[in-house]
Amino acid sequence: MKTELRSHITKFLGTEKQTRDLGHLMARGVMPKFYISLNGELGTGKTTFTRGLIQNLGIKQPIKSPTYSLLETYTTPNHTICHFDFYRLISPLEFLEAGLGEYFESDNICIVEWPNVVASVIRQPDIEVDLQYSKTGRKVIIKSNTKSGDTWLLKTSLK
Ligand SMILES: Nc1ncnc2c1ncn2[C@@H]1O[C@H](COP(=O)(O)OP(=O)(O)OP(=O)(O)O)[C@@H](O)[C@H]1O
Ligand SMILES: [Mg+2]
Repeated sequence: MKTELRSHITKFLGTEKQTRDLGHLMARGVMPKFYISLNGELGTGKTTFTRGLIQNLGIKQPIKSPTYSLLETYTTPNHTICHFDFYRLISPLEFLEAGLGEYFESDNICIVEWPNVVASVIRQPDIEVDLQYSKTGRKVIIKSNTKSGDTWLLKTSLK
């Protein structure tokens, strides 16, 4: 796999549906162990994007924001999906003491909102998504950090 694919993809998402549809697209080619981090200020669409992604992996139940629970898990015949939100996490120590690091060591697909607080104690995300306010919509920047991320992006056919 060529490494020059590790470029940034930038898109404008004019509506909530476009954010969700981007999540749908990112569900293509998802493999066990993939880790995607979602950066962006409050309300930029991280959970909306995640809903699209998880729904397209075949989950029919409502996808709740894990702001208070820190973690929501979903299982399909092929995957276990762990959706984290670390907005309320105070330190990496709290993360480690709760044993949450183990979720990143197995085959789970991990999706993380507010990843910065734990960045020093977990591996680099395969894909980083940055959401920013832009006029009435959002600007999104998608970046691959690993070979797995490159493969993933290739399968989405995102340009
Ligand atoms: N592209 C878009 N254009 C306009 N509104 C959007 C877009 N994408 C999402 N939204 C809206 O932004 C609001 C916040 O979305 P969401 O809860 O997904 O944000 P979040 O980043 O997860 O927030 P938090 O930081 O609190 O976890 C929702 O009302 C959603 O409908
Ligand atoms: Mg959220």
